[in-house]
Amino acid sequence: MYETDEKVCLCKYVSRETVEKAIAKGADDLDKIGRATGAGRGACKGERCKQKLFKMIKDK
Ligand code: FES
Repeated sequence: MYETDEKVCLCKYVSRETVEKAIAKGADDLDKIGRATGAGRGACKGERCKQKLFKMIKDK
């Protein structure tokens, strides 16, 4: 069980809940999640969050 305010993307401070909502609305790849939430588009360019985002897409 995850905390709803857990930050998936630390650079852009994007929460797991925000990403889950974007996925529920049809964001099914990193580019769409990035456009919808900013996740993966921070200073590390997804180095720290990309794997978590892939897993969230896979597990949806
Ligand atoms: S942690 Fe997501 S872009 Fe750096």
